[in-house]
Amino acid sequence: MNYFIHTYGCQMNVHDSEKIAGILEGLAYSACDSVEKADIVVFNTCCIRETAEQKIYGHIGALKKLKRNNPNLIAVVCGCMSQQEGVADKIKSSYPYVDIVLGTTNLNLLERAVVDARKKKKYYNVDFLQYSEEDFNQTRTSFPNAWVNINYGCNNFCTYCIVPYVRGRERSRPMSDVLNEVKQLLRDGYKEVTLLGQNVNSYGHDLQEPVTFAMLLHEIGKLEGKFRLRFMTSHPKDLSQDVIDAIAAYPNICDNIHLPVQSGSNEILRKMNRRYTRENYFELIDKIRKSLPHVGITTDIMVGFPGETDDDFEDTLDLVRRVKYSSAFCFVYSRRKGTPAYSMDNQIPYAVKKERITRLLACQNEVTKEISKSMVGNTYEVLVEGANFHYQNTMCGRTESGRLVNFKCDETYIGKFVSVLIERASSATLWGRIVSEEK
Ligand code: SAH
Ligand code: SF4
Ligand code: F3S
Repeated sequence: MNYFIHTYGCQMNVHDSEKIAGILEGLAYSACDSVEKADIVVFNTCCIRETAEQKIYGHIGALKKLKRNNPNLIAVVCGCMSQQEGVADKIKSSYPYVDIVLGTTNLNLLERAVVDARKKKKYYNVDFLQYSEEDFNQTRTSFPNAWVNINYGCNNFCTYCIVPYVRGRERSRPMSDVLNEVKQLLRDGYKEVTLLGQNVNSYGHDLQEPVTFAMLLHEIGKLEGKFRLRFMTSHPKDLSQDVIDAIAAYPNICDNIHLPVQSGSNEILRKMNRRYTRENYFELIDKIRKSLPHVGITTDIMVGFPGETDDDFEDTLDLVRRVKYSSAFCFVYSRRKGTPAYSMDNQIPYAVKKERITRLLACQNEVTKEISKSMVGNTYEVLVEGANFHYQNTMCGRTESGRLVNFKCDETYIGKFVSVLIERASSATLWGRIVSEEK
């Protein structure tokens, strides 16, 4: 019997899908590479923007035909979209061929639900079951990297964002659990660990034990052996000097920070409830660059938040030019039901949003190109992460700062550290050749 998982959304979901895979393998299913071959198909969903949701509903709709051809196919919808209010009921009425609906915190019910579904019993449950997240065998799919949750949920309530509603309040995992998982991963041969949280910097705030994110970084940084530690996402309001110092103190902790700014306008940042100003943000960038001169900083930016004027948008462009991100994920604001921004005045027309996102992308592209050009001729340590399927015998991996590089070698190199001389750059893409490798 085979399973196929469609994963939408962020790394949180990518990692949840590894837990889903672990549960299904425990039920004697094996991974397969297409929906057509599957006996069970899982949609691990995202609802961060309307476009994400529309795509998912389209894919769930396409199941109808597959189910007609294979009535024993089990269909599961879980994740952030199904956790939204009213969505489980909507699926029940509009997509009756879906067998199982679960939310973001009750994956531990999946096993039982699948057993029921085999007996043609439907199972819809999106109850919030706090702290049920950790007890899974995982089937990891991202070697040499391994994802590790450190905190779940979010307390920040940025006014545009659905995440706090579908992922619940912030819950940190005990530090000993995180450390044990990381140590085991290193014993298993993983070469990179990425700590995951909506706001890693507030790690520990909700725990009895007096721990902080900086303390966690120190504990992991001290571990023996050659590996890389990354983490995401950092909220600018909570990224403190002790975290920057911890990154600087250990060679294993990558000088790479994902620091979503969202907007360069103080008025918009205030309306977004981000709790920092552009001045605070610039100060933070200065502090980071002072301690970590080779750091790669990436970001998320949104255009077309309600009330965003031309001047506000110009402030965003100005910030992007000044910060010099190595890359930026740029989004068009999408109205999410149940969030405060949904009912704000002055929603921005689509044509304006479209023009702004085009200009923002062009602006960041210039910055990326400039950084890429400056890297040509230099040699960087790269962890070989996987194949670039567009080219034969070509692998890719990242520099410590997080830039993706392509180079010739075969798959036996995956998981090795190599030194790569950068030979050419086409805006976002770097090409190089291996000049030396670890013994
Ligand atoms: N916890 C992370 C982000 C999680 S969501 C943080 O606080 O930075 C990832 C990104 O999606 C956000 O940074 C934001 O840029 C974007 N996003 C969130 N809600 C959105 C919305 N309603 N419309 C468009 N983009 C959105
Ligand atoms: Fe959403 Fe803000 Fe929480 Fe990030 S910090 S998940 S953008 S509410
Ligand atoms: Fe991630 Fe989407 Fe949920 S971005 S937390 S999968 S809403």
